[in-house]
Amino acid sequence: MIPVITIDGPSGAGKGTIAQMLALELNWNILDSGALYRTLAYFMKENTINLENFEENQNILKERFKVSFDPGIPGEPVKVMFENEDITSIVRTEEMAKLTSTLAAEPVIREFIKPCQRDFMKLPGLIADGRDMGTVIFSDAKYKIYLTASVEERAKRRQTQLKRQGLEVNMRSLLRELEDRDRKDMEREHSPLIPAEDSVLIDTSNLNPKGVVEEIKTYL
Ligand code: DC
Repeated sequence: MIPVITIDGPSGAGKGTIAQMLALELNWNILDSGALYRTLAYFMKENTINLENFEENQNILKERFKVSFDPGIPGEPVKVMFENEDITSIVRTEEMAKLTSTLAAEPVIREFIKPCQRDFMKLPGLIADGRDMGTVIFSDAKYKIYLTASVEERAKRRQTQLKRQGLEVNMRSLLRELEDRDRKDMEREHSPLIPAEDSVLIDTSNLNPKGVVEEIKTYL
């Protein structure tokens, strides 16, 4: 049995940072499922694949859609590798997040991505970060964490993250976009963002990453 720790929650709750810290500490594999959805959105855009012609492009998609992650170094986002290229900065933009959020609500997209996500379950273990890791994709995982934080704190974190990438964003529009995306992710019909019944809830608003990892370790 391959151990899996699922980390779900809204954007900016700290999932990426915590998943990275745990993966580095335990030396486990990492799945950033949000980045997987973002990469699919990017691939579809680059190859003019849309929801209408998705089925007829299944073969190209199955053949070419192979993503890998490198936990990288603390303080920097988990690296997204696609077709031998580091596409981290291409997919981690607000524009791509918006496009991804719309696509991720579509059952055909979620069904396509399902097996890709399960392929990441390899020894010695997996840290899976996303929205439906504990509820749908790895519903039998032994350890499930749901991270949350106030929307103001999450917007602040996102702003810092984007600044580090050299992107300047307006706080008010960031807040609005975050709330909009939260609503979409939580209210969609397929795999909405909700805490798994057997998950441990951690509010990270007033905790630093080390504090969150300590709480998780106590739980583990
Ligand atoms: O975590 P993120 O911001 O990179 O996610 C991008 C989008 O993908 C976000 O709108 C939610 C969606 N997503 C999802 O629907 N299911 C997942 N398991 C992960 C992300």
